[in-house]
Amino acid sequence: MVAARLTRETRLTVLTGAGVSAASGVPTFRGAGGLWRNFRPEELATPRAFARDPRLVWEWYGWRRGLIAACRPNRAHDVLASWSRQFPKFTLVTQNVDGLHEAAGTQEVVRMHGSIWEVRCARPCAAGTTPWRDEVSAKPALEVPACPHCGGLARPAVVWFGEMLDPVIVDRASSATDCDVFLAVGTSAVVYPAAGLLHEAKRHGAFTVEINPEATDASHLVDVAIAEPAEVALDAIDAMIDRA
Ligand code: OAD
Repeated sequence: MVAARLTRETRLTVLTGAGVSAASGVPTFRGAGGLWRNFRPEELATPRAFARDPRLVWEWYGWRRGLIAACRPNRAHDVLASWSRQFPKFTLVTQNVDGLHEAAGTQEVVRMHGSIWEVRCARPCAAGTTPWRDEVSAKPALEVPACPHCGGLARPAVVWFGEMLDPVIVDRASSATDCDVFLAVGTSAVVYPAAGLLHEAKRHGAFTVEINPEATDASHLVDVAIAEPAEVALDAIDAMIDRA
């Protein structure tokens, strides 16, 4: 049903969330084993938390970096990467900061929440908010990294609770909702503005699909809800695409 709609001409947009990386061993935020069951977001993922205790925040990000560094893309990432090369009108929008879509070879990922592998000046200084790549701290951070321009504290270049998203990125994600098929994969669909993209896609008349083993707020809104893990469902869809 979904595969039949995927041809070279299809404008296909995929929104992914933490569930797409679950099979790689990256913990999700919500649900069984979710990070927010054991950690309080307001102590670790807000500008205020960083101002209060930058070392604690970096310890948590260092721990997550170490965990993610040991993870490899799974079949779901691989299928999406191959679609990014196969379908000329394909856009991948992700809420994930782990970099596994890029590691799988997906071209031009629209990263709504930044990257755990990038840092930026926390102030920001005259050098601005442009992030730089930093993979050094792939183990629990012992030192809070410094901004090379002003010597002040550097922070993870991810979006924290209460922060605005980059309007350019939001625009790119929003434009991609003008599509024929919209897939929401492995997201609990509760964090906005990402969760709103599905509504936008519906308004554009897209055929909407959810892939998630658990029901979410989006399940009753989509045309098809596939209650399976992403790595299973995407593999099955990929096998059924008619490439003649
Ligand atoms: P969540 O942790 O909220 O949701 C993950 C979803 O993945 C859940 O609905 C699970 O049922 C589902 N899931 C688990 N295993 C799966 C699998 N193998 N295949 C498919 N789905 C699976 O993650 P997000 O929706 O990405 O924000 O969370 C959104 C944002 O909330 C994150 O980007 C982060 C978090 O706070 C920021 O850090 C700003």
